[in-house]
Amino acid sequence: MSHYLFDSAADQAIGRFAVLESCYDPVSRSRLELTGLTTGWRCLEIGGGSASLGDWLGEQVGPEGEVTVTEIEPHWAASRKRPDHVRLLRHDIVRDPLPGKDYDLVHARLVLLHLPERIEVLQRLVAALRPGGWLVLEEFDCGWTPVLAAPDEAAAALFDRVHTALLGLLEQAGADPLWGRRVVGAMAAAGLRQLAAITYAEAWPGGSTGIALHRHNTDQVADRLAASGVTIGELERFQALLQHPDFAVNSYPLISVRGRRPLENGKDLPR
Ligand SMILES: C[S@@+](CC[C@H](N)C(=O)[O-])C[C@H]1O[C@@H](n2cnc3c(N)ncnc32)[C@H](O)[C@@H]1O
Repeated sequence: MSHYLFDSAADQAIGRFAVLESCYDPVSRSRLELTGLTTGWRCLEIGGGSASLGDWLGEQVGPEGEVTVTEIEPHWAASRKRPDHVRLLRHDIVRDPLPGKDYDLVHARLVLLHLPERIEVLQRLVAALRPGGWLVLEEFDCGWTPVLAAPDEAAAALFDRVHTALLGLLEQAGADPLWGRRVVGAMAAAGLRQLAAITYAEAWPGGSTGIALHRHNTDQVADRLAASGVTIGELERFQALLQHPDFAVNSYPLISVRGRRPLENGKDLPR
């Protein structure tokens, strides 16, 4: 059973995937290219959402390679056409056996953050790599989302209040909203080498594509926000603020970490 707060079968999921694809896919693609990703590679994309990145990986590896995209709720990803060497699998990364081994590249974006079993899952992902293969984890640090501009102080306080309530719901569901800042350490503890990390963030102005992520997220859990003390009026003012031209908030910083499984003979990995 998944603990994931934002059920991917819900209508709001496609809006969330569209924001993630638009705002973060260009970033993720450039981070994945840093591994040397090339034709013929075998790749595993975990919790692929709409599978936009899995499909892009398929283009990079070509028919000589293969990509397996896993997703606990593959409804949206299944609506996209893809070539035979890109396989979409309904799969729970916490409970199901790994779909393969000896991967050149394993990638997950914004999945382990949500899973209480994230350390065990990380260890399984490392085990799925060939010696010298790359794991790339990309995760948010939800603890650094300062309001950058607001029509007045009350508006800034309202954003913080509703956003803090949302993070509380995530924690109740077993997520770690600060997981992004812990990934380098966790990947080192899991035995990976050649670790490197890059963080990306930008301003999300009112009405922008990115800020709609807050709309989809709060919309989907509106009932639970209400149960946690956010009033209907506050939620309506929060949603209106997300459209306000004088409002801007920092995007969720995406921390992209890459690391390699050591060689079995203990020799140094080639650079
Ligand atoms: C925040 S979304 C990120 C989607 C995609 N990785 C992206 O960055 O666009 C988290 C995704 O993880 C999936 N997920 C949650 N729990 C999972 C599990 N136990 N196994 C596989 N996927 C899971 C969800 O269905 C959802 O699509």
